[in-house]
Amino acid sequence: MKKVGIIGVGAYLPAKILSNADLERMVDTSDEWITTRTGIKERRLVSPDEAASDLAIKAAQQALKDAQLEAKDLDLIIIATITPDMQFPSTACIVQNGLGAKNAICFDISAACAGFVYAIVIAKQFIATGSCKNALVVGSEVMSSVTDWQDRNTCVLFGDGAGAAVLAPVKSGGILSGYLGNDGSKVDLLLIPGGGSRHPATHKTVDDRLHYLKMEGNEVFKLAVKIMSESAQIALKQAGLECSDVDLVIPHQANIRILSAVAKKLRLPKEKIYLNIEKYGNMSSASTAVALCEAVREGRIKKGDVVLLDAFGAGLVWGACVIKW
Ligand code: ACO
Repeated sequence: MKKVGIIGVGAYLPAKILSNADLERMVDTSDEWITTRTGIKERRLVSPDEAASDLAIKAAQQALKDAQLEAKDLDLIIIATITPDMQFPSTACIVQNGLGAKNAICFDISAACAGFVYAIVIAKQFIATGSCKNALVVGSEVMSSVTDWQDRNTCVLFGDGAGAAVLAPVKSGGILSGYLGNDGSKVDLLLIPGGGSRHPATHKTVDDRLHYLKMEGNEVFKLAVKIMSESAQIALKQAGLECSDVDLVIPHQANIRILSAVAKKLRLPKEKIYLNIEKYGNMSSASTAVALCEAVREGRIKKGDVVLLDAFGAGLVWGACVIKW
């Protein structure tokens, strides 16, 4: 099996900023409530002509440049998204065409907030076994398109964005482990009920607001703390490492209180947990992808560092992977 690493990263955030003060004018909430309960100060929103593929293409172009590769060098594209451009074809096909990556096979995966970690683990298998050489994985989300802007319980939490990584064979280090898990008995905790084959779009589903994200935040919160802590430990064990070996954790950015609790459980100092939730909110699959890119660009990840990606989301679905940079 070949060693596989991340050789380039990229991110794209739409320009429009929606602040907590803006939300105060839309629903019964306050900057104080949002900041103390979630850690979020502002989030980005797409312009009317931007969809998930547009964000993904921009993030991917940066990752390719960073990897010093051209689009034609890619032989695999995986887009992790729960807000695809449309039901079908896949957003990955649209991205392939937009990039001009005509030699790449491509598909989407639906693994909610853990989508980017899932995509990395899947792409790693293709490369390690020799089926592919250069893979692009992207987490891209337009969460604003499935947010109920009348529901203060959820509308303060989410934002739009995309992050990308290019994976390829490496001589040393690379992805040391990838642990994935699911619990399908908890589907009802976090979902978009309408628009699929269970409740196809009708006037009634629209009137009932079934095309928006619904979440039992409290229950999800408790499970996130427990499962993210356990996943981190399992992924580290698989890599033959301990928490004390980790230089930086790149967690899914759902809630600053979840991340503080996870850090405490893992006995990791706060400085080892990368945070950008304040600027972007929860961007589902894009959160870990954007955080990884920003951490690299800020010099928080250096060659030889041990990086832990740790994500959790709707499904339930979770994943953690350890990378020696
Ligand atoms: N502004 C003001 N008050 C609010 C707001 C708001 N925006 N939202 C809720 N409240 C109120 C509630 O109505 C409730 O009032 P009540 O006591 O009078 O009934 C009170 O605040 C407390 O509500 P809780 O839901 O108990 O608040 P909690 O502290 O649990 O925070 C939150 C809610 C932020 C959603 C939290 O539960 C959370 O972060 N959950 C996890 C989210 C997550 O990890 N999601 C997974 C990934 S997402 C994905 O996969 C797509």
